[in-house]
Amino acid sequence: MCGIIGYTGTDGAVGDVLLTGLEGLEYRGYDSAGVAIADESLAVHKREGEVAALEAALPDTGLGGTAGIGHTRWSTHGPPTDANAHPHTDCAESVAVVHNGIIENYQTLRADLEAGGHEFTSETDTEVIPHLIETALATGASPEAAFREAVSQLEGSYAVAAVFPGSETVYAARHESPLVLGIGDDGHYLASDVPAFIEYTDRVVYLEDGQFARVNPSGIVVTDAQGAVVETAVEQIAWDPEDAGKAGYDHYMLKEINEQPQALRQCLRERVSELDGTVTIDELAALEPTGPVQFVACGTSYHAALYGARFLRAQGVPAQCFLASEYTVDQLPVGEETLVVGVTQSGETADTMSALRAANRVGATTLALTNTVGSSAARECDHVMYIRAGPEISVAATKTFASQQVALAMLAATLAGETPTALCERLRALPDQVQQVLDMSNARAVAEAYEASDAYFFIGRGYNAPVALEGALKMKEITYKHAEGFAAGELKHGPLALVGEQTPVFAMVTGDASASKTLGNIKEVEARDAPVVAVTDSPAVVGQYADHVLEVPSAGPRLTPVLANVQLQLVAYWVANRLGRSIDKPRNLAKSVTVE
Ligand code: M6R
Repeated sequence: MCGIIGYTGTDGAVGDVLLTGLEGLEYRGYDSAGVAIADESLAVHKREGEVAALEAALPDTGLGGTAGIGHTRWSTHGPPTDANAHPHTDCAESVAVVHNGIIENYQTLRADLEAGGHEFTSETDTEVIPHLIETALATGASPEAAFREAVSQLEGSYAVAAVFPGSETVYAARHESPLVLGIGDDGHYLASDVPAFIEYTDRVVYLEDGQFARVNPSGIVVTDAQGAVVETAVEQIAWDPEDAGKAGYDHYMLKEINEQPQALRQCLRERVSELDGTVTIDELAALEPTGPVQFVACGTSYHAALYGARFLRAQGVPAQCFLASEYTVDQLPVGEETLVVGVTQSGETADTMSALRAANRVGATTLALTNTVGSSAARECDHVMYIRAGPEISVAATKTFASQQVALAMLAATLAGETPTALCERLRALPDQVQQVLDMSNARAVAEAYEASDAYFFIGRGYNAPVALEGALKMKEITYKHAEGFAAGELKHGPLALVGEQTPVFAMVTGDASASKTLGNIKEVEARDAPVVAVTDSPAVVGQYADHVLEVPSAGPRLTPVLANVQLQLVAYWVANRLGRSIDKPRNLAKSVTVE
């Protein structure tokens, strides 16, 4: 998804900061990149493809200047070409603009601007912004007034930043797309996300919807839509740059899979007492008991929500799950007594934010379960619970999924008012058990055995059903191979027609009451010559039914699926690795999907 970086400083570091920032934003997914430097005139450089392609096209003499903006673009309006890459300028090159989000009224604006003589050079919605600024400048408006005038005409979602020739100021505004400001010693930063400038500063100010920022080498001024200065709080970010590096792993994904024990320890820390079976989530102290719970989420987070909803129901709390993009408050019983929980690692996913905003509008109580402090979800919901997984750079969500599962187990305990002591004990033991799986896993050998298969199927029942869905999602997104996950009982209602000797079936059979039924499903696929890989905590029994076994320790019926998922993550990783895929940045995908 698009990423913005901006810097203004008198230390001659603009070029370096922008390029480092663009690299720090790569994890969001993108297909072109560019920078604009404001000196006496504007210098704009942009290229289709990776940041490395842009770097190769830059002048050997460096970029110079005091103020600059940069952008990684993930195509929405128009294909990934040099012309469609940001920054965009007006006819006279009097301003350069970068934008993240979607301008919904751009066609009307563009038609009016073209009728007024403006010539466009791209297919993007963004290009209307510099032309609107140019129009305002022509009336004698100052750069700041022209920027504000242009932004006031935009409908849709945007984080936008602009620089003008002969000026050391970067102007910025946001509405429903993230933007964070960084306070440095020699200059000031702005970006879509903190990793873009964490190497330089850990002091940040989060811009709110409707706010504008004037960023100079000497300081930052934030104003509201009317131009009144807003007092801002400077927050200290706990991530250090080392956290965001690969630490010797070939891919962030493998690093993040291996970070799961630590992520879960952080998630559980000071929240679970195994002595008396209590769970205390400090952030949720003000959350009153509510009525039914509705989860809204997308992708991997939706799978975590399915798992969590089952946990809640098991503890007597009615809970339903909705794909955020399908959530419609007018067709559902949602009112003041409903707790709507947005499960979202980034806290910025447009579909999830849209569902949460709809829930806010009808007066529901909203809760963000997120990894990202200061994200839109965290700021706009009534309550927030952090999953504390640490930064996740790989597009494929791994440690955040495990942390969401554990956080949701704790949320269930909080909403139910009590939780069995045995479950608390199991939760506390879980990080070590994940480490055991990582230490003993034979997933790489299994991946090698099946890397040439045509397709992969994943089945599981109960708490394992969402893990089957997640196993398939992980496999397809990083290997580009066909993969599908099913509740095991559904196999015989259609998908069985696809099963054969080239389609291994991964069956999660962990110690719950439904295990014997899943064994029946294994027999069904074996009868169609499909190889079976059992992921199980009972290898002696289940191994008799399978061609390969991926063993996990037992963590009880509810938590063993968390361990089974780790094995599936590793299988997907090693198949993708053997196939030479772009594991951390799979084609067509973005880390943070900020368009609906
Ligand atoms: O940031 P979110 O958790 O809201 O993201 C939702 C999905 O886009 C995300 O979980 C996606 O499915 C994963 N990156 C896939 O690994």
